[in-house]
Amino acid sequence: MSHNITDSITYIGVDDHDIDLFESQYIVPEGISYNSYIIFDEKIAIMDTVDKRATEEWVANLTEALGDKKPTYLVVSHLEPDHAANIQLLVEKYPDIQLVGNAKTFQMLPQFFDFSFEPKTVVVKEGDEISLGKHTLQFFMAPMVHWPEVMVTYEKSEKVLFSADGFGKFGTLDTEAEWACEARRYYFNIVGKYGAPVQALLKKAATLEINTICPLHGPILTENIGYYIDMYNTWSSYQPEKEGIVIAYASIHGNTAQAANELAAILEKKGAKKVEVIDLSREDIAEAIESAFEYDKLVLAAATYDGGIFPPMEEFLNHLKSKAYQNRKVALIENGSWGPLAAKLMRQSLEAMKNITICDKVVTIKSTVKAETREALEELAEEILK
Ligand code: FEO
Repeated sequence: MSHNITDSITYIGVDDHDIDLFESQYIVPEGISYNSYIIFDEKIAIMDTVDKRATEEWVANLTEALGDKKPTYLVVSHLEPDHAANIQLLVEKYPDIQLVGNAKTFQMLPQFFDFSFEPKTVVVKEGDEISLGKHTLQFFMAPMVHWPEVMVTYEKSEKVLFSADGFGKFGTLDTEAEWACEARRYYFNIVGKYGAPVQALLKKAATLEINTICPLHGPILTENIGYYIDMYNTWSSYQPEKEGIVIAYASIHGNTAQAANELAAILEKKGAKKVEVIDLSREDIAEAIESAFEYDKLVLAAATYDGGIFPPMEEFLNHLKSKAYQNRKVALIENGSWGPLAAKLMRQSLEAMKNITICDKVVTIKSTVKAETREALEELAEEILK
């Protein structure tokens, strides 16, 4: 069902409750929304399409909202198929429609489609404007705020920012969840690598008065816009959002897990306000990444395995690296029954990241937690809390 956001702007996106994995990797217990909008004026602009999973419902929403009217423009903010899958269908349905994008958009578009789009293109660049009548669209390039061709659109009369993936969130629009949790998981896992481009976009956004943010996923943001901008500023500058200690462990038979849980208890006893323990073998790795970025301290506890790091930890470290994890204090716990190597290898991974302070104290468990392990954990806790 379409619905109005303002008198002139209508939501025609679709909630996807059934998807198993978003982008074939993220579990989305509350689904995902593919947002799409129409701006009605003397000329009508459609703001992005939706994933092919949602075509039928989107076309119904579009047709219901447009009635007999014909759209003049389709603004293509982002070519990723979760938004752009229906460009060709739209052009076939409305052959006079013009596609608005930037040079990169039209360079990449033929990779996704086999139709002749050249006569239909309006190529915009930084700051360009298109008037719809009372509404004026102004375009700002946002390269690598997920993909190179991404741009955002500011509608000047109603002060609405169409923010592409920016400010997006996992979860359909009919879920009640607070924004930050799933927006944070979405941000760090999908956009996390691209902090500098997000910072560049925030600088542009700071010059605009914004009343409403219309992202391509998740709810339309209408109040406390400063809160969302502040969160994005913290996240994209790789600063911890909160004080807290995340203990992520990869344990084969439960002994490394025991050390991780005992460390959590010691830290709490010593006054740590927030300690979160994560079993990397069983919990959602995207949640683990979110937590690592949310807090200022991280403990990695892993068994040695096949002369390397037990794979769930290795995978976690690979994710941290690819998401540009940095600016944090990290402590190491390893386990090895005959040749413990995990700490050395975890340290090597961390040294390839920016501004990671590794605690001097390293706890080595020889198979099981013993009195000397507990003493070492006490010492480690002191150093973590320093
Ligand atoms: Fe929602 Fe980068 O696509």
